[in-house]
Amino acid sequence: MTPDCNIEHAAKILRAGGLVAFPTETVYGLGADAGNDTALLNIYRVKQRPAGHPLIVHLADAQLLHRYARDIPESAWTLAELFWPGPMTIVLKASKHTSRVLTGGQDTVGLRVPSHPVARSLLNAFDAGIAAPSANRFGRISPTQARHVTEELGSDVGLVLDGGSCEVGLESTIVDLSADQARILRPGAVTQAQIEAVIGELSPDTKGSLPRVPGTHTSHYAPLTPLSLVTRQSLQQQLEQSADSQSRIAVLSMTAQPLTFKGTAWKMMSNTCKEYGQQLFSTLRELDRLQCEKIIVESPPSTPEWEAVNDRLARAAG
Ligand code: TXA
Ligand code: MG
Repeated sequence: MTPDCNIEHAAKILRAGGLVAFPTETVYGLGADAGNDTALLNIYRVKQRPAGHPLIVHLADAQLLHRYARDIPESAWTLAELFWPGPMTIVLKASKHTSRVLTGGQDTVGLRVPSHPVARSLLNAFDAGIAAPSANRFGRISPTQARHVTEELGSDVGLVLDGGSCEVGLESTIVDLSADQARILRPGAVTQAQIEAVIGELSPDTKGSLPRVPGTHTSHYAPLTPLSLVTRQSLQQQLEQSADSQSRIAVLSMTAQPLTFKGTAWKMMSNTCKEYGQQLFSTLRELDRLQCEKIIVESPPSTPEWEAVNDRLARAAG
């Protein structure tokens, strides 16, 4: 099938209430018709995701916000204008037509206009909102390649559209504009500083009890192998201490592999946050497959631009 045929085929599956995994610039999503509760329930089933955890609706265009949200503040249009299509989700008050299966029973809804060309073609062909969480089982690492989805979800998905490796590699920034004070619920490629530069200072409170965000569970984004975060110095020490079991340790580091530790599975990561973010989830999947006893990660810098990467690493460490 040519790509266009595939898109039409995918739109048909969605119209029939089926599931289609598709690439976005952040991670692969597991899509269903946002207007079909049976299809939405199927997402929860396939992901093994508890009910009450809301799904993000993907839209072709910001003008479609009205279909799902009400009382849209000016700040939402400002952010949409600047960062859409792109890796940012906005949480707004849900309109009364918006399914509560979609919102996990809450009266807010998360919305995003993705920039990946395959996602955009699919949204245009489907011509309505597509609900899509990351296409992984609940609590696991988000997929950044089509084969990650196939390996993890197999025949539970009708079709996986292959759009190559995701450019950002980390899930979207989530900005909550549903309350009086805007706040970030999940850091991502669009940074707090970029958002504050256009809509003013955000609430420092990112840990409100509502709305609920599964991404804030500490066990989220976790590989199966226990992972610990350490400083460069203590990485050296830990490796020296476990000199006889080197082969059972995997390391994620921003420095080159020392010859003395050539027995460990060593992944040298980029020292730019953009590339590190692109590589992170696929590298963790790769290391997980080695079935080592543990993964030791050398902590990246703790500057604001590394916030999204550090957030995912902290969750992976549980
Ligand atoms: O980059 C992304 O956002 C990817 C791609 C596929 O778009 N999607 C994604 O979806 O990461 P998911 O479901 O894995 O994570 C979305 C997060 C969840 O933690 C969910 O609770 C939160 O967004 N969320 C969705 N709607 C919300 C709402 N109304 N209020 C608060 N949090 C919401
Ligand atoms: Mg997810």
